[in-house]
Amino acid sequence: MTTILVLNGPNLGRLGTREPEVYGSETLADIGASLRASVPDEVEIDLRQTDDEGELIGWIHEAVDRRLPVVLNPAAFTHYSYALRDAAAQLTTAGVPLVEVHLSNPHAREAFRHTSVISGVASGVIAGFGAESYRLAVDWLLRAALRSPS
Ligand code: DQA
Repeated sequence: MTTILVLNGPNLGRLGTREPEVYGSETLADIGASLRASVPDEVEIDLRQTDDEGELIGWIHEAVDRRLPVVLNPAAFTHYSYALRDAAAQLTTAGVPLVEVHLSNPHAREAFRHTSVISGVASGVIAGFGAESYRLAVDWLLRAALRSPS
């Protein structure tokens, strides 16, 4: 069984009703269901959301210790949480893939969203495709990052 952690930061539990013109109408539960429907049976999608920075950092530590690949939407923490970046850097050091995702394209929005303190320690970044950003991230993990050597 391969487990992919899909971690979500603050306010993402409000998807569906939160600024649907920016973030779309799918809830986080919808995104989780769509991800689960798109992966093989032996892949577990462990989707979590928190508004708490410390809890999110704890989940990154868990991913480091269990060597679990991570899809991370850090939400507003993207733009200022050095603590989250330092946690995410441990994934890089451990050789565990990390895909930073965003529903919106932060670069097309307010200036404060143009900086990500996470991107520098991510394997890659997918932004601007709505819920599809998550599906693309999981697809890359399964097709490229987690492919067993032949
Ligand atoms: C977001 C973009 C962030 O700027 C914002 O704070 C979010 C969501 C996105 O998915 O587009 O909460 O990460």
